[in-house]
Amino acid sequence: MSEPLLLVERREAVGLIRLNRPRVLNALNTTLVRELADVMEEMDRDDEIRVIVLTGNEKAFAAGADIQEMAETTPVQFVVKQFFADWERIRRIAKPIIASVSGYALGGGNELAMCCDMIVASETARFGQPEINLGVIPGAGGTQRLTKAVGKMKAMELILTGRMMSAQEAFELGLVNRVVPQDKLEEETMALAGEIASKPPIAVRLGKQAVLKALDLTLEHGLHFEQNAFFMLFSSEDQREGMKAFVEKRKPEFKGK
Ligand code: CAA
Repeated sequence: MSEPLLLVERREAVGLIRLNRPRVLNALNTTLVRELADVMEEMDRDDEIRVIVLTGNEKAFAAGADIQEMAETTPVQFVVKQFFADWERIRRIAKPIIASVSGYALGGGNELAMCCDMIVASETARFGQPEINLGVIPGAGGTQRLTKAVGKMKAMELILTGRMMSAQEAFELGLVNRVVPQDKLEEETMALAGEIASKPPIAVRLGKQAVLKALDLTLEHGLHFEQNAFFMLFSSEDQREGMKAFVEKRKPEFKGK
């Protein structure tokens, strides 16, 4: 039997997904991306899971879309196969997703990390959009998300030169949340995931949605969305509990209700 493309486990309230094509630096073929969307949707429906962590191995988070698979594809085949439909499913996951990146996060690999909500990087991580060297440009959101993350000038440089940047540079540009030593990557990622998993899940979900709206909407519409979400949370038991616990000077017990 062939190796599974994804290794999936649950650690308390955290769903951990490991990309598992080490021989090709976790190149993202269509089957892998479909299975990834399937697993993420399953985790999104699972009340026991509050945060999703996506990772690779020490050498690569993912070195991009699978060039071998893509090389001879025609435009019509892309359309017929709805090539990016599973990426769209990943974009719609409601729970927070943390990318835990070691080694290469290139092309589709960097785009996948940017589809996540936060990035924890090891000091060895290398980020980039090298598609220009293959005669194309990013296709899974790179030109849009990288520009939103690091601004026009830097995104332009990275996409037009295809150069890789270090974890430290990515951190300084605001692409990654924190840079940690390689041997602490899992521990630090899980600590961040655990902290978020301990928060009231409905507020976490709406917080994620509201931040993502800021990338999409005008300020006026974004503020409108935020206020409605804020008001809505006052119908949750967790809001009552959170504010009551503050007043009573005790730790809140959130139930996700
Ligand atoms: N697709 C398919 N196979 C890949 C791959 C990819 N994106 N990246 C690496 N591999 C394979 C290599 O072909 C090689 O396989 P073989 O052993 O069978 O030859 C194996 O993984 C190991 O890779 P290297 O021998 O090249 O390893 P290295 O350490 O010398 O170099 C690297 C590492 C610099 C990351 C180099 O592998 C590389 O440049 N990879 C391609 C990166 C890239 O261009 N990514 C963008 C893809 S296009 C895209 O993602 C489009 C989009 O926006 C959706």
